[in-house]
This record gives sequence, structure tokens and C-alpha cells, in this order.
Amino acid sequence: MDMLVVRGGHSLRGAVTIGGAKNAALPIMAASLVAEGTTVLHGIPDLVDVTTLSHVLRSLGARVTRRIDGAIEITVEDQQPCLADYELVRRMRASVCVLGPLLARRKRACVSLPGGCNIGHRPIDLHLKGLRALGAEITIERGYVFARADRLRGTDIYLGGSFGSTVTGTCNVMSAAVLAEGVTRISAAACEPEVVDLGKMLNAMGARIEGLGTPLLRIEGVKHLDAVEHTVIPDRIEAATIMIAAAMTKGELTLHNVSADHLAAVTDVVRSTGAVVEFSDSQAIVRATKAPRPVDVTALPYPGIPTDVQAQLTALLALADGISIVTDKVFPDRFMHIPELMRLGANIRREGASAIISGTNRLSGTCVMASDLRASAALLLAAMAADGESIIRRVYHLDRGYERLERKLNAVGAEILRVVDDPANMPGSLQLSMDDQSTPSIDSSDTPPPPKFLRHHEFGKASEKREANSRP
Ligand code: EPU
Repeated sequence: MDMLVVRGGHSLRGAVTIGGAKNAALPIMAASLVAEGTTVLHGIPDLVDVTTLSHVLRSLGARVTRRIDGAIEITVEDQQPCLADYELVRRMRASVCVLGPLLARRKRACVSLPGGCNIGHRPIDLHLKGLRALGAEITIERGYVFARADRLRGTDIYLGGSFGSTVTGTCNVMSAAVLAEGVTRISAAACEPEVVDLGKMLNAMGARIEGLGTPLLRIEGVKHLDAVEHTVIPDRIEAATIMIAAAMTKGELTLHNVSADHLAAVTDVVRSTGAVVEFSDSQAIVRATKAPRPVDVTALPYPGIPTDVQAQLTALLALADGISIVTDKVFPDRFMHIPELMRLGANIRREGASAIISGTNRLSGTCVMASDLRASAALLLAAMAADGESIIRRVYHLDRGYERLERKLNAVGAEILRVVDDPANMPGSLQLSMDDQSTPSIDSSDTPPPPKFLRHHEFGKASEKREANSRP
């Protein structure tokens, strides 16, 4: 298992190119199951989650290959398999996105229930409600969803739940309704750009979906869909993470391949903290010179602030000059990053679905543990802004959803090393002894003690070793 060694305190400066959206790529890859021919997808990021879904699709009779130019080709060669196994689905819950496409094209599906998740309770009752409304017979047995429908029939479906709309639920029901007989109207549909991207690809395949990007979708079923070539949208969550990195390190970054529209809510928050954000074409410039101002933030379904940026904004506001309240209305329990941010010196109290953050002017590097994808991004941001060195463990969470994030950050001035999680790789500065007890606590002094860094040549050696290991 790898860990990241981060030496904090560098302002990030330069340009970063944002990759394709993970959360668009996954349902889009799954939807390739409904088409005849070879689907060619551009901009699919090279992530562990994409690899996992490729395995799921292969197990379902598809040939999935990554071309030399990076495009992914998916061709269904065998329409018989219908089982998405627990061993794969438990690794990535977005595997459930194959349910709707399988039911529509193969009339049956057997998909494992994904199980628990570190960001809170994540049922799929709304997915099942929508598919049942289309005429599917669904039972849950031995941890699997068994779904069958000789014919799917269009109908009116309300897909809202206690926490708003469902993103992958809308993808599943939409991907099934495109091949149903007659007209389906989905109300309280998710409006996220990733759902729109999927809808656009299905329309290019021959589907008839109207209302994409609104809560009311009208889908006229068709008999047949043909594979197409499609480019996924830029990843707005990666872009938001990089914007926050610039703000937290008082740096200046240019982001290439971004959509200003998709980032409106996050941009508003980042600007409210005092940073400058300017957009032109598909490019953004983010600049910050001072500590952030405190802001109250509520994560909501799109076009609100994404829950997938809540942890990163919490890290930013941990350095604000005052008190901020961050509330998550989509995943009210998505706060596993708080105790780890507190290990870095943040002052945060959780109350229900909110984090009450009393900003500090200094974070102090230490060893922290990532609990999920976005929590790991938040810890990385905080470690980059902290004094001294930090270790981020369980970094496999980060690799599920960010493509070579530390390389992108290192290219603009960060100092992040990926090493094997082994005591031998622990930086000397984090190996405290009883003699260090006189070190002042971060609350008791305005003048921080000098950090005890790994000696520079050690950092360099480890970096070279890592680069050598990562060469093909
Ligand atoms: N919900 C239900 N019943 C359902 C489905 C959802 O009650 O049948 C609830 C959930 O428990 C949650 C809320 O509705 O409280 C929203 O969940 P949603 O279904 O929209 O989430 P998802 O589709 O499972 C996608 C993203 C998540 C992102 C959420 C919210 C993908 C592959 N995943 O999940 O991304 O947080 O939407 O925007 O698209 C991530 O990238 O780190 C990530 C977790």
C-alpha cells in the first residue's frame, strides 16, 4: 500500500489540465451496454474506478480496450451474461449503473447490492422504484438485486427522495427508459452535468430524451440504439479541488479544460473567501494572496455546491480568519475527514449535518488517514498548506477518483512523494520522542517551531526511487 509524504508550505503556481469527469465516465461506460456496435469514449480518466468498471463490463460480455490515443472502446460481444458480482460491485458502488442498461437490453439483471460506504447510508431504493415503475419485477435475494422485464413500458415516475434527487438513480432509470415502449416522464430527476452528458450520448445513439439539465425529463422510447463516439465533460470536482489548492496555498493557478457553468457555486464560495477567479473560454485563473475569509456553505444537489467538494472546502475554511459553518444536505454523515483535519491542527466541531469551523492561522504537518476519495483530497490540500511534513495513509482512496493528482500538483510547485507505507519511509520530522515534549503546541505560541524536515537529499532520493518504480 502507498502513502503520500507531503512537505507543506509551498505556494502553487503554474497551469494544470483538468481530466474527464469520473462521475460522467462511469454511467456512460455502463450505458454502452445498450448500443449495437463499438462505443468510442474520449477523455475517460485513467482511474482505479474506471478499471473496476471495465472489469464489470468484461464480466458482462463486453470487450473493453484503451487505445494508444487514450480513447476507450467498448463492444458488446456476448449478450447473455447478466451478473454483476459482489466481488466487483463492493469495490465500487457505481457498478450499480449497469442495472438499467442490462434490464433494457437483456431483459434481466442480477446486480450485487453495494453494501456500506464511508460517506454514509447509500440505499438504491429510488433506482429500484424507477425500474419497477417501468414494469420490472425486482426481488432482493442473497445480497443481489434480481430484475426481470420482458417488456418495459413508459410511465410517470417521481424520483425524489429525502435527500433530493439521485444522480446514478436517474442515470439507471433514464438508460432503461430509452428502450421502453412509449413515453416516460421522470420528475425530480437529477440535474447534474454528468447526467446531462449521459443523456447527450444516449440521444446521439438515437434515444429521444428531452429536458436534460432540468428536473423533468421526457423520454420517448426507441427500439434500437447505435454505438457512437463521445467525449466526456471535464471533471468539475477535480477542477474545484485544484481551485481550492490555489486558494489554500496563496498561489496562482491556471486551469485548462474547465466549464465555468458547472463550477458556478464553487466559484462563488471561493470568491467569497477573497480569492480571485477569472474564466475565459475553457480556462480559469485562480489567485489568492491572503488567508481566506470565513463563509457558510451548504452542499446541495446541482446547481448547488457539490457534496463532493464539501471536504475540500472544509479544509480551506479551517484556515479562515473566523468561524464558518459547512452543512452537507446530500450526505449528512460525510464528515470522516474532520478528526483527521483536527490532527493537522484544525478547530472543527461537528453538529449533526454541519461542521462548525473556527479558523486557525496555522496547520501543522502530521500523519493522517484517508477515509474516502474526497476526504483524501481534503487531507492532501490541508497537508500542502500545513507547516512541515505530513503523511497521508490509505491513499488508494485518492487513486479511485483523481488521475495522477500528486504529479499534477508537483508540476506547479507542491512537494509530494508517493512511497510504500512502511515505517522506514516515515519522515524523521514525524518521529517524535519524549525529548520533543518541550515543543510548543500550535495553540500556545504565535511563532511556530522550525519544522524538522527530512534532509533534502533524502526527499530527493525517495522521489527518484518512486519515479524509477513508476516507469513502465
Ligand atoms: N439516495 C436515496 N436513495 C437512492 C439513492 C440515493 O435515499 O436510491 C440518497 C443518498 O443516500 C444520498 C442522496 O440520495 O443522500 C444522493 O445520492 P445519489 O444517488 O445522488 O448519489 P450517487 O448517485 O450514489 C453520485 C456520485 C457521488 C456523489 C453523489 C451526489 C457517481 C458515480 N457518484 O453518487 O460521487 O457524491 O452522486 O452528488 O456519480 C464521489 O465522486 O466522491 C462521489 C461519492
